[in-house]
Amino acid sequence: MQNRLWLLGVFHLIVRWGSTLPTIYAMPPPSPVECNSTGCTLYNSYGAWGDRKDCQAPNVTYPTSEEELRLAVAYSNRNKLKVKVVSKFSHTIPKLACPSSNSQNTLLLSTAKYNSSIEVDTENLAVTADAGVGLRELIDKVEDAGLSLAAAPYWEGVSVAGLISTGAHGSSWWGKGGAAHDHVIGLSLVVPAKPSEGYAKVIKLEAQTPFFEAAKVSLGVLGVISKVKFSLQRGFKRSIRYNFTNDSHFEDIFMDHAKNHEFADITWYPSKHTAVYRYDDRVSLKISGNGIYDFIGFQSNSIVISKSIRATEKILENARNVKGKCTLAATTVGSKELIANGLKNGVIFTGYPVVGHQGKMQTSGSCLYSPSTDITTTCAWDPRINGLFFYETTAIFPAPKFGDFIRDVKKLRDLKPENFCGVDIYNGFLVRFIKASGAYLGQSEDSVVVDFNYYRANEPSTPRLNQDILEEVEQMAFFKYGAKPHWAKNRNLAFLNVQQKYANFSKFIAAKKQLDPQNMFSSEWSDEILFGKEAVKGDGCALEGQCICSEDRHCSPGKGYFCQQGLVYKEARVCRYSPSSSFE
Ligand SMILES: Cc1cc2nc3c(=O)[nH]c(=O)nc-3n(C[C@H](O)[C@H](O)[C@H](O)COP(=O)(O)OP(=O)(O)OC[C@H]3O[C@@H](n4cnc5c(N)ncnc54)[C@H](O)[C@@H]3O)c2cc1C
Ligand SMILES: *[C@@H]1O[C@H](CO)[C@@H](O)[C@H](O)[C@H]1NC(C)=O
Ligand SMILES: *[C@@H]1O[C@H](CO)[C@@H](O)[C@H](O)[C@H]1NC(C)=O
Ligand SMILES: *[C@@H]1O[C@H](CO)[C@@H](O)[C@H](O)[C@H]1NC(C)=O
Ligand SMILES: *[C@@H]1O[C@H](CO)[C@@H](O)[C@H](O)[C@H]1NC(C)=O
Ligand SMILES: *[C@@H]1O[C@H](CO)[C@@H](O)[C@H](O)[C@H]1NC(C)=O
Ligand SMILES: *[C@@H]1O[C@H](CO)[C@@H](O)[C@H](O)[C@H]1NC(C)=O
Repeated sequence: MQNRLWLLGVFHLIVRWGSTLPTIYAMPPPSPVECNSTGCTLYNSYGAWGDRKDCQAPNVTYPTSEEELRLAVAYSNRNKLKVKVVSKFSHTIPKLACPSSNSQNTLLLSTAKYNSSIEVDTENLAVTADAGVGLRELIDKVEDAGLSLAAAPYWEGVSVAGLISTGAHGSSWWGKGGAAHDHVIGLSLVVPAKPSEGYAKVIKLEAQTPFFEAAKVSLGVLGVISKVKFSLQRGFKRSIRYNFTNDSHFEDIFMDHAKNHEFADITWYPSKHTAVYRYDDRVSLKISGNGIYDFIGFQSNSIVISKSIRATEKILENARNVKGKCTLAATTVGSKELIANGLKNGVIFTGYPVVGHQGKMQTSGSCLYSPSTDITTTCAWDPRINGLFFYETTAIFPAPKFGDFIRDVKKLRDLKPENFCGVDIYNGFLVRFIKASGAYLGQSEDSVVVDFNYYRANEPSTPRLNQDILEEVEQMAFFKYGAKPHWAKNRNLAFLNVQQKYANFSKFIAAKKQLDPQNMFSSEWSDEILFGKEAVKGDGCALEGQCICSEDRHCSPGKGYFCQQGLVYKEARVCRYSPSSSFE
């Protein structure tokens, strides 16, 4: 087994290297909206919603201009329909864009075909784009004009309106910081209006106008964003170096790291006792280098490899084989170090530092492209191939609390480091930085964001290896340290009491009442997130993060998982495997 795993790891590495050659073709992601004669189903990019039959609408519309968009909202207002907006990407994990279940009165509005205009204003260092424009198209246009967008998420498969709506971010404590919405200087919003105004109108928002701070991060529940205007900077390059090193003291160093390097981040692999510091600084355009950051996790993967990794993971899960997971984690981290996470000086990685234009260093997603002629590669999570399926927990901490959180996680790690191998197979703990924001649903203080991904079973009723450990980390983050959940990620329990965590939450709700008095843009799915309500606690509800367990039946007593207290954070209630208890 060990040998085979090792081979798989090496094969993985070879294929990843091979994927820099232009001979492998990829299958682009499927459309998130599928319709037939009876109606339409909305999926997210992981295919996670539709099969549960709770994200459907009778019809979808694809406006191509702001006026068509306004007419769609007017039509819905006149006919008392609800509206849910989604982009052509639908890369959000919670069901924010889902229509009410069994709803015969919701219009799904897709911005997939509303993407023609990108206007760069070189003199005023700004760009205004249609809501459905993809991040990559925006960045390329801006860079062609000799300018740069300073902040963006690391993943480019998102629309300009979708990404700001959930508070998407990269990493920086410098200038306006790493969150994209803090670089927004104008927005147009389509909202319902009186019959005398034609049932819908476009309102233009900018700094100091009412509703601007509400609309910057609005989860799609305030109205339909039609245009977004970002501030830009003169074009620049970046110089990046990774340092794979010992993780001791990283909880003391992180602040200095973020202060010293404009685009700093840290990846922590707890089971490997490894922290990876990204030294990432702005340099002048005169410095030579045409590097790119083609992040390894977002590169096209051979379908065969994605499937065999998934199959291996399932075998290890079923066999409760922690050692096997650790072997897989070791190969993954090793291969990332060898190829610098996907940094490339040119065609391949030849050595540090890698210098390249901002437009090629901030954001990537090469698995999105290539012709669909020869179907051998995809994004690793493509729902059509039985590839990777995982949870993403993303917690946002006020900076001063983050060190103590890591100290607690280290205590948990030190009890048995192997328990974290499952996380290290994915991307460990990715630590990023965002600055204080005026957005009501943004961060009111300088913050640290931590992301970690982990295995999700295909069947909701299947418990997972070491799930107690990850549940404990999750509860520590959100309840002991009061971290806020990233709006586009996380399992439902992370949103419990989210309202109390935002000082300006009531201002957001007041804005919504004024702009959307009929609650046209909300569904019970978006309410579940925005108001963080705990659902009725059913059997097995803790397995998929729908609840925090308080009784064994919320876990899976039949499969040996019982509701128990945390190992370090005693107030946590987690589903832990204890085979002996099943015979009590
Ligand atoms: C592989 C991957 C990597 C990611 N990496 C990062 C990262 O590095 N950093 C980060 O912060 N996030 C990241 N994310 C999360 C991602 O940035 C967000 O989910 C983003 O919101 C997705 O944009 P989208 O265009 O797909 O929006 P959608 O998922 O289509 O929509 C998101 C929300 O915006 C609303 N919306 C969309 N368009 C409009 C509109 N025109 N008007 C009003 N409301 C609208 C929708 O109703 C929904 O509530 C990642 C996600 C994935 C899958
Ligand atoms: C049509 O789509 C609906 C949901 O939109 C789905 O429930 C149904 O099974 C589909 N029917 C066919 C024939 O695909
Ligand atoms: C869906 O809307 C389109 C117009 O956008 C219309 O032509 C079509 O008949 C509608 N379909 C249903 C099932 O309502
Ligand atoms: C708009 O979307 C289409 C289809 O996805 C794409 O081919 C085109 O390049 C996009 N246009 C812009 C300006 O982004
Ligand atoms: C890597 O980081 C460690 C810990 O901060 C530091 O001691 C070491 O000098 C760094 N190495 C390089 C090459 O920057
Ligand atoms: C990491 O550093 C600490 C303290 O500097 C040291 O005790 C430990 O042995 C180091 N671990 C490794 C694996 O180098
Ligand atoms: C939001 O809340 C913070 C913290 O209470 C407050 O300082 C700030 O003024 C508020 N922002 C706005 C725009 O009202």
